Amino acid sequence: MNSGLSDLLAIGIPVILIGMLTLGMMVHRELGPFVGLGLGGKWMLSLALGMGILAFGLKVGVALLLGRAPEATVERLSSNPFVHGPMPAADRIGLVNPAPPRPGNYVWEVLPARAPEPAENPATPAKIALGKRLFYEKRLSGDGALACASCHDLYEKAGADGRPTAEGIAGQRGVRNVPTVWNAAFQSVLFWDGRAPSLEAQAKGPILNPIEMGLAAPAEAERLLSADPSYRADFARAFGDDQPISFERIVQAIAAFERTLITADSPYDRFVRGQGDALSRAQLRGMALFESVGCVLCHRGPNFSDASLLGGQSPWRFFPANATPYEEKYRLLTESGERGVWRVPSLRNVALTGPWLHNGSVDKLDEVVRIMASAQLGRSADYLGWLNQDSSLGKLDRTPLSDREVRDIVAFLEALSSDALRATSPRTPPGG
Ligand code: HEC
Ligand code: HEC
Repeated sequence: MNSGLSDLLAIGIPVILIGMLTLGMMVHRELGPFVGLGLGGKWMLSLALGMGILAFGLKVGVALLLGRAPEATVERLSSNPFVHGPMPAADRIGLVNPAPPRPGNYVWEVLPARAPEPAENPATPAKIALGKRLFYEKRLSGDGALACASCHDLYEKAGADGRPTAEGIAGQRGVRNVPTVWNAAFQSVLFWDGRAPSLEAQAKGPILNPIEMGLAAPAEAERLLSADPSYRADFARAFGDDQPISFERIVQAIAAFERTLITADSPYDRFVRGQGDALSRAQLRGMALFESVGCVLCHRGPNFSDASLLGGQSPWRFFPANATPYEEKYRLLTESGERGVWRVPSLRNVALTGPWLHNGSVDKLDEVVRIMASAQLGRSADYLGWLNQDSSLGKLDRTPLSDREVRDIVAFLEALSSDALRATSPRTPPGG
């Protein structure tokens, strides 16, 4: 049932009962004797007056309900056409949250050992090996100085670069933070704004982006690699024929390699698989809060993202959804001063990939949790109400999280870090 309606009933039913009692007493004790009515007359009069009052109450109730309904219609989850499609229009996003979870209702899942792959690009060991070679290939950049791995340092920086925003060829600064490539294979759309529908499509971006690797054209990459006989041999082995090296095959091999970048070895995964002592008490409290506070509304499923190939349903959300002082402090609005529409990022290894958010403006994880709780869930003293267009989020508690709750959630986020990557990438020191 609509929660607005149940609220109204919870108030309405007691009011009607008290009203009926008062009316009955008035008619029987005061009005009836005054005009000299018998018992039947008293009942008729009570009934008539009562119906009138009830009808009035119903009108007020309906008016209230209409006033409280969200401005836009809530779309059905199952018919969301955007899961693999292009970016949706801004007015169709953030309206598809399921109801807030009931405590204990959420199912915690582990990451599968293999990522789904498109039928057109089946992985083979030779293709994966070629993709790995290409991921480290600096000749794919305009000045021969950058490879994918320069910005996505797999082991020392957990697949990101530890900088606020990316540094491309000739020291050019980008405007976006570098997301990790670990577990990107499970995401239904890629990039912060989710504009790439597959890893194959994504990989074309940085090679040609003038402020990233900055190659002039796809033919340039084909020419550079074809000039090297060892690449000609690797491509022949990977694709099983000796067709010329194409840009399409370059990105296919890279994507096949990226689909092997999976971390299912976090304390969280060990806990869900049954190792009872894998999480500390603080992490367990944080796990419960992550559900009850509502983080799971968006960071759902085994990859902690609703933009996931593993049953994700609604890849994009407004961020910041509510107005809070954070948006000015960390420049969270878009360049044109609007609430941006962003893909829900995965939170796996998030403790290892700071600084955080699309502009890399926040260098403390506890601050990110506070921003999320207030900007996305309205847990803020400064909450401004209907700016958040999602009715289910609008129903949640408004109390800001306590320091201890924030600490516990951070502890839980740390439990999403891979054991292997924690060993190779020194954690972001406090304060950046
Ligand atoms: C100059 C630094 C830089 C280089 C080099 C680079 N990337 Fe990226 N990468 C980024 C940034 C920044 C983003 C986010 C951009 C955005 O969202 O607009 C990104 C995003 C990605 C993503 C999306 C991850 C996600 O969760 O959405 C993948 C996958 C990726 N890069 C793979 C690659 C591959 C493959 C290469 C080499 C062909 C490469 N990158 C080269 C900086 C770089
Ligand atoms: C309404 C959807 C929504 C809810 C609810 C939500 N998030 Fe987020 N979260 C997002 C989006 C969208 C982003 C990307 C923000 C950006 O583009 O800068 C994000 C980003 C993050 C990041 C930064 C990721 C990175 O790599 O920089 C963390 C950490 C995070 N969320 C944790 C949480 C926690 C903890 C909660 C619960 C207190 C929560 N989120 C609730 C949608 C949500």
